[in-house]
Amino acid sequence: MIAIGSDHGGFELKEYIKKHLDEQGIAYKDFGTNCADSCDYPVYAEAVSRAVVSGEMEKGILVCGTGIGVSIAANKIKGVRAALCGDCYSAEFTRLHNDANVLALGARVVGSGLAVKIVDTFLSTEFMGGHHTHRIEMIAEIEERERA
Ligand code: RB5
Repeated sequence: MIAIGSDHGGFELKEYIKKHLDEQGIAYKDFGTNCADSCDYPVYAEAVSRAVVSGEMEKGILVCGTGIGVSIAANKIKGVRAALCGDCYSAEFTRLHNDANVLALGARVVGSGLAVKIVDTFLSTEFMGGHHTHRIEMIAEIEERERA
């Protein structure tokens, strides 16, 4: 199951992505926002991120105007590796090399057609493991040192 969320800046694109996921038969849970009224992106970034690190949700998708706010907020949650992607190459390699578990998108940056291609790439690419595993572990160690 995929967790999806956005602020008002990403609301329209979130709805478009949901329609696309429906067409693909991919299950998701929408963590809001539920309308285009102004709201605070950290709320939705935290909700989606906590659902992912708890194991309740497999991966997360977050959308705001630039994708930057939600990615910064999501990466504050221990265990989240959120990647802001504006192209399919980045979406592919952040899964292959970084085992990114949250995709951030900028609704005012990418068109809806590209956005769903990025989503498809992100969701269909597996982490390649190998020597990249050690680097993921190093990121987790940074988190531990930061919280010590
Ligand atoms: C909202 O206007 C905008 O600031 C937000 O969607 C996002 O781009 C923040 O990073």
